[in-house]
This record gives sequence, C-alpha cells and structure tokens, in this order.
Amino acid sequence: MTPPILRRLDDLRALRRDWTQKGESLGLVPTMGALHAGHLSLVEAAKAVCDHVVVTIFVNPLQFNSPEDLANYPRTEHEDAAKLAPYGVDAIYVPDPDQIYPQGYATTVSLSGVTEVMEGPNRPGHFEGVATVVAKLFLQSGADRAFFGEKDYQQLMVVKRMARDLDIPIEVTGCPTVREASGLAMSSRNMRLSPQGLEVAGQLNPMMEAAAAQLRAGADYAPLEVGMRRKLAELGFEDVEYLDLRCAEDLSAMARLDRPARMFVAAWLDGVRLIDNIAV
Ligand code: PAF
Repeated sequence: MTPPILRRLDDLRALRRDWTQKGESLGLVPTMGALHAGHLSLVEAAKAVCDHVVVTIFVNPLQFNSPEDLANYPRTEHEDAAKLAPYGVDAIYVPDPDQIYPQGYATTVSLSGVTEVMEGPNRPGHFEGVATVVAKLFLQSGADRAFFGEKDYQQLMVVKRMARDLDIPIEVTGCPTVREASGLAMSSRNMRLSPQGLEVAGQLNPMMEAAAAQLRAGADYAPLEVGMRRKLAELGFEDVEYLDLRCAEDLSAMARLDRPARMFVAAWLDGVRLIDNIAV
C-alpha cells in the first residue's frame, strides 16, 4: 500500500503523539526524494529496529549552492511513494515549504570543526543548510532514531555532532553505501550522467579501492593521489575538488595509513558533481 503523504507538521505530530502514548518507537529516514536502492536500504535498516518508520522528502533550498543545482534536482514524488509502497512505511512527510521555513524564519544551525574541510570550503553554507533542516526534522518528528547513508560520510558526522551538541535525544545511525555493480555509489545525481558518463564514473570506486590496497601495503598517500588525479583527468573528469585520505574519527588529513582512515573524493563529470568515500 502506498504510504500516506503528510504535508503539515500538525499531522506528523498527531501520529507521533499516538505512537508515544503506546510506547512505540519511531525511526526517521530524511531524504530529498529521487529515491534509489541506497535510500531503500536505510528504510530497511529503520524497519528492522523501530516500531514505526517515517520517510521525509524535502528538497531543502538552504543547502544548495547554486539556484541552477536546486532547479535541476530531480523531483519524483509519485515514483518515490510507489517505491516505498512495499516497505510498510507508516508515512511520508513531504512538508510544504512553510512548514520548515515559515514567513520570517531567521534561525540557522552552524557547526565548526567537522565542517571546515572537504565539502565545507567547496560548498559554502551547505552544511549550515543541512544541519538546520535536519535539526528541524528531528525536533518536528520527535523520532527515536534516524538513518543516514555513509556515502555522505561528512554529513553523517555533522548530523551526529549537531544532535549531540543540541541535546536532541535521537540515535543517529550510519548505513553502508549501496553501489552499482561497477562500484559507483548510488546517488540521485547519477541520473543526470550520460550513458558514457555512467561508464566512466564506474571506474572511480575501483580506482580508489586499488589505492586503498596499496595504502594497506604501506604506501604513502601523496604519490597515490597524484596518480589517481592523473587517471581521473585522462578518463574525462572535468575537475577534482578533493581526493583526500583522512582520519575516520576526526577527518584530519593523513599521509599514510597509521589509524583507521577513509579516502574521500569530490569530482565533476558531465557537469555533475560526484562524491564518494571508502573505508581504508
Ligand atoms: O542527504 C540528503 O539527502 C540531505 O542532505 C538531507 C540529509 C535529507 C538533508 O536535506
């Protein structure tokens, strides 16, 4: 059955009140829609441990850097609802814009530290937009748990930090990245790649995994990064914003594998900004 779509905060609150009275837990899966298997894996993770699951769909204008990117972001509400139908989700919260940012809205949530590398400097204001909307969704829903993909690893760290710092009583869970057979991380933006672009993008993850294997064998990162950047240019990537080896705990830069790490990339192909990261 297609889950009911709620557009007003009052309706979400009424549902939540009912579940709270019965002592039942709520899991939240925040999304911007254009759902793919990655999102559905978050729904499955939520269903496994929560009595009720609400998926939110809100294309949050505050986190986009360019009006063009916001305008081009896929909006596929009917298809999204149909994809969720088999999962027994309790409701889809698709708030009208004024339910998130009412007239005169003046409050933002901004974080230091974890936002100051990678996506932070490359997308000014992005994490402020993410932290603000996610804080609102947490507070509006009163959810017990929330589920985010590790594909946006830095976002996951930002959300965890924000919830902890603001004492929002919610457990934030990161779920593994879901990938195409090629290794390409699933993303709503992939649908904007040309067929040839999709093929090229499929080479990104195997290249990073090969470099990770060399790091595990003791190699330094600097020459590996040079080689990977060269390969990406040869493949036709238009720009590489960052290709970093960083500590998995605090995102500090690393020169070799001396503690648990992740390798992160943001690169442009076909005019589409792709990001990925892997555990090393
Ligand atoms: O990852 C996303 O889709 C968005 O950044 C999120 C967490 C739903 C906030 O708008």
